[in-house]
Amino acid sequence: MIILSKPNWTRCFSALITLCLSAAVLTGASQVATPPTASASQTPLLLGTAWYPEQWPEARWDADLELMENAGIHFVRIGEFAWSTMEPAEGEYKFDWLERAIALAAQHHIQVVLGTPTAAPPAWLTQKYPETLRINEDGRPDEHGNRQQFNWSDLEYRELAHDIAFRMADRFGHNPNVIGWQIDNEYASESYGPKDRQRFQEWLKSRYGTLDALNARWTTAYWSESYTGWNQIPIETSYGNPGLLLNWKLFVSDTWRSYQKNQIDAIRPHADARQLITTNMMGWFDGYDHYTVSQDLGLAAWDDYVGQGHLDPIRNGAAHDLTRGFLNKNFWVMETQPGFVNWARVNNALDKGEVRAMAWHDVGHGADAVSYWQWRSPLNGQEEYHGTLVGADGTPAPLYAEVAQLGREFAKVAPALAGTSVQSEVAILHSYESRWAINWQRHNSEYDPVKELLSYYDPLREYAQSIDIVSSDAPLSQYKLVVAPALNVISEETAQKLIAYVRGGGHLVLGDRSGMKDADNGLWPQRQPGPLADLLGGRVEQFYALDAPVEVLGDFGQASSTTTKQYATLWAEQLSVKASDTEILLRYGKSNGWLDGQPAAITRRVGAGRITYIGASLDAKTMAAAANWMLKTSGVTRAFGPVPAGIEVYPRSGNGKLVYILVNLGKKTETVDLPAEMTDILHDGRVKRLTLQPYDVTVLQAANR
Ligand code: GLA
Ligand code: GLA
Repeated sequence: MIILSKPNWTRCFSALITLCLSAAVLTGASQVATPPTASASQTPLLLGTAWYPEQWPEARWDADLELMENAGIHFVRIGEFAWSTMEPAEGEYKFDWLERAIALAAQHHIQVVLGTPTAAPPAWLTQKYPETLRINEDGRPDEHGNRQQFNWSDLEYRELAHDIAFRMADRFGHNPNVIGWQIDNEYASESYGPKDRQRFQEWLKSRYGTLDALNARWTTAYWSESYTGWNQIPIETSYGNPGLLLNWKLFVSDTWRSYQKNQIDAIRPHADARQLITTNMMGWFDGYDHYTVSQDLGLAAWDDYVGQGHLDPIRNGAAHDLTRGFLNKNFWVMETQPGFVNWARVNNALDKGEVRAMAWHDVGHGADAVSYWQWRSPLNGQEEYHGTLVGADGTPAPLYAEVAQLGREFAKVAPALAGTSVQSEVAILHSYESRWAINWQRHNSEYDPVKELLSYYDPLREYAQSIDIVSSDAPLSQYKLVVAPALNVISEETAQKLIAYVRGGGHLVLGDRSGMKDADNGLWPQRQPGPLADLLGGRVEQFYALDAPVEVLGDFGQASSTTTKQYATLWAEQLSVKASDTEILLRYGKSNGWLDGQPAAITRRVGAGRITYIGASLDAKTMAAAANWMLKTSGVTRAFGPVPAGIEVYPRSGNGKLVYILVNLGKKTETVDLPAEMTDILHDGRVKRLTLQPYDVTVLQAANR
């Protein structure tokens, strides 16, 4: 153990770090021999758990690791809240315990993901450096006692974070049993103090160059907001100039990115290339732009909690697809609930079998790891009631056996899934700017942009059985169909990209509220869909928030014989057709007079491509008809084939393999006819027809591709 007493020794930063450390000469640390273990790449399907050895007597560790090994657990994530144990006083580093925990895990064939502990700065730190505390929106500083009390933009805190991350990397960056790093934990809380505001103003200056440009782009003549000095610009988070609101969120995102990059830079040069670097994100959380923050990571990961209720395969499945889209490759579920959580209104447990079903649903959507938070109930601390795999008494909870079954199954299926990922013919475009812009000005309080996205996702996925959710700036040429629900903010560059996609033969479907705003959250001077209106050969004449559903008429060319009425629910746009070859797919019935008989959805062929605009939020039945039309018109094929309701199909392919995971998330036992004979990997044998009980799972390998 090295004890450095002077703060300037412990706090060397950036370029100085190597110099400082060579002076410190980190020798003499007691080393525990670590046997080499398989690298993550050799184990393509990982089962993990969050373990907190610092909370338990060392004599107990072996028993815990033994139980983990018996459950088939491959890795533990450790350290992410252990700063006060790693550095109990400033400059007094204690890593020997961590090294012994890693070595003992290796003896049980359990690998380690190390978390940097920066989401939980120790009390001595906040006491000595109170300026590192985040300032709440009401101007009060946060305080010690919980976690995430640090200020993400504070330079002093960055030095401290860099230091602890570097010390960890220097010690464990070449440890053969450490497979990766998690930076911090669930980025979420910003700071609103005078220094943050100053940094925001500097950031605005680098973005806009001159105040004239900013004033023009934000139309600050409105309500006398014109700025004559950068230091006049405030922070607004909910009701402010839309340009100001959007820029604050972009600043928040860039600042999380640089907060994270500071730690990546501390680790990467001192870590083996095989050690991955990730962080645990939070699904639909929109506190920052995840595309911005993901770009410096080698792997995307998220914490997948159901909370109250049960697994919703649509909302949760789409969150997986969203996370897969951050880096457009497989991802990890870094945390998920072992049965139940402690923070919902009612913390009901998932049913018996549901945890296993959920893990396969995760893998089906492209997760290469599923990790349970947390291993054992702590004896004290804020989360005593949370679900675990082992009780406070140190013996397995009832759920342990179900996770152990997963461990056996993961081992069996891993070779078939190696090198496979999710391939889709359909993409849904997702944009944080658009979500923020709508949420700041919903116009109909019931209109939720995530729900709107899911209203498209649900029927599209039911048919196609695989969907990508990607940034509106992602490459699109591989998709037969690209759907953009409520793509409210469309920059000039994005518009050009979408136009090129259509001209290249793709089918672009824009949902209501699309193409209204520009890159500064200002209104496009053209009517919606703004820069895409010419290509569409039609536009939005007026939008209407609906206080009651409005009937819509038309069948998307499906010649459906049903007499059930169809409705626009929360939002209706009165469309018009300008070009002679733009067709009307749907019209409004009797309504407010303005909408009566007017077009609600229009489409236009553009060479081999097509652009469609759906100007209303549609009820589920109408959306299903719309989805069928989109898929048929675009030539999208089903990934597997028809299955009974309740059966979820998840295709994964690559490396010459084609694997289907089937999970019964319905309430009834179902029989599935396979499109061809396949190998049942879990049960060994060839099958052409199979029966699945509720929550049951099967993994099928089709003939090699
Ligand atoms: C008030 C204000 C106006 C405008 C309208 C909007 O009447 O005086 O400036 O904000 O509300 O309805
Ligand atoms: C989050 C955190 C964990 C834990 C869980 C509880 O995911 O990252 O530390 O608090 O919630 O559900």
